[in-house]
Amino acid sequence: MKTYTYKKSVALFKRAAKVIPCGIYGHMSPAPLVPASDYPFYASRAKGPRFWDVDGNEFIDYMCAYGPMVLGYNHPKVDAAAQKQLKSGNCITSPAPIMVELAEYLVDLISIADWAFFAKNGGDVTSYAIMTARAATGRKKIVLVHGGYHGVAPWAQATGHPGVIDEDQSTLLRVEWNDFEGLERLVNAHPGQIAGFMATPYHHPTFSDSVLPAPGYWSRVEALCKKNGIVLIIDDVRCGFRLDMRGSAEYFGFKPDLACYCKAIANGYPLSALVGTEALKTAAARVFYTGSYWFSAVPMAASLAALKELRRIDGPALMQARGKKLLDGLTDIARSHGYTLRVDGVPSMPSVYITDDESLMLHQDWCAECTKRGAYFTSHHNWFVSTAHTDADIKKTWNVADEAFRVVKKKY
Ligand SMILES: Cc1ncc(COP(=O)(O)O)c(C=O)c1O
Repeated sequence: MKTYTYKKSVALFKRAAKVIPCGIYGHMSPAPLVPASDYPFYASRAKGPRFWDVDGNEFIDYMCAYGPMVLGYNHPKVDAAAQKQLKSGNCITSPAPIMVELAEYLVDLISIADWAFFAKNGGDVTSYAIMTARAATGRKKIVLVHGGYHGVAPWAQATGHPGVIDEDQSTLLRVEWNDFEGLERLVNAHPGQIAGFMATPYHHPTFSDSVLPAPGYWSRVEALCKKNGIVLIIDDVRCGFRLDMRGSAEYFGFKPDLACYCKAIANGYPLSALVGTEALKTAAARVFYTGSYWFSAVPMAASLAALKELRRIDGPALMQARGKKLLDGLTDIARSHGYTLRVDGVPSMPSVYITDDESLMLHQDWCAECTKRGAYFTSHHNWFVSTAHTDADIKKTWNVADEAFRVVKKKY
C-alpha cells in the first residue's frame, strides 16, 4: 500500500506560520497530530466521506471536520437549498423567512424546545445559555464538569490558560462527571446561588476516555436541579443529531431546560442554536445577544435541508450502525495482531484507544500509519462516523488498519 507524503502541505504551513499566529490555530492545529509529519495540513476539496489534501492524497475522513460533516461533504440536497437561498439573499438588513421556518422546525423536532435562537458557533450558544440561566434566576454561579469542553470563551477555558484571568472563572464551580453526590454537595454548600448546571450528554473530553452517564445519573440531576431552581443546560454541540434527532437528552431519558446545538446542525454551514423551554423564553429575550452574521439566511436554509434529510433517513440510527460495523471490524483486526482496541462513547462518535501501551506511542503511531494510507484517524480526540461512510469505505478502512497494525507490530 502506498504511503502518502505532504510536501505542499508543509510548504503552505511554512507560509502560514509567517502571517497567521500558530499557522493553524485551535483544534485543527498540527500540534496534537503525532507524528505531525504523517498528517496533511491543508485540504483542497471534499466529497461524501472523503477529502483530498493539497498534495492530492485521498482520505476516508473519520474526523468529519471535527463534527460539522454529518451527511457527507457537499451533500446535494443541502447545497441545493443553500444555493437557492443565496440567489434570494444571505446577509440582509432584515432576517429572511427561513429563520422562522427553521425555528418552527426545531421546536417541532426537539422534545424540550419551545423556542430556538440562532448564532454561529457552539461557544456562542453555550455562553448565551449561561447568560440566560443567570438572567432567569438572578444568581451568579454555574456548575461545570471537570474536563468538559464548551468552547473558547474565557469562562469556558481551563484555568491558567494564557489570556484567561481568575476573575473570568470566579463564579464557576466544578464537579466530576457522573458524581451525583458531589453535585448535591455543591448545591447544598451554595444555597440559592447556583444559576445553572451545564454538561454534555455524556462525557467526551479530549485526550482521555469517553464515559457514558451512570444508570440513574441524569434523572437524579434533573430532579436536583428542579428542586433547587437550577437551570439544567445540556451542551449537545458535539453529540446533537448523532444520537437522536429529538436531542441527546431524549436518548438518555431526561429533560433539560436549555440545549445547545452546532456541529451537525447544518452539515458544514456555519450555524448554532440554543433551544429552551417556555419558562425560560422571557429571560432569553431579555439577554442582549447578537452578531454580524447571525441572521445569514444561507446556513439556515442548509440547516433545514440537512435536518430534514437526517430525519428522513434516520441519520443517527444509520451512523450508529455504520460506526458499530467499523469498530467491530477494527477490534477483530487488532485482536488478530495481538492488540486490544478499547472503544468508548457511542459508535457514531467513538473514542478509540489501543490499550497495550500506556505511553500511547503505539496508539499514536497506529493512527498515523492509518492516516498516511488513507484512513484519517486522530489519536487524541473522538472520531466521527457520518451517514455517507459506506460498507466499501469501511472495508477499505479495515484493509488500511490491518496493514498499519503489521507496520507497528515490527516496532512494538
Ligand atoms: C461539547 C462542545 N461544546 C462546545 C463546543 C464549542 O463549539 P465551537 O467550537 O463551535 O465554538 C464544542 C466544540 O468542539 C464542543 O464539542
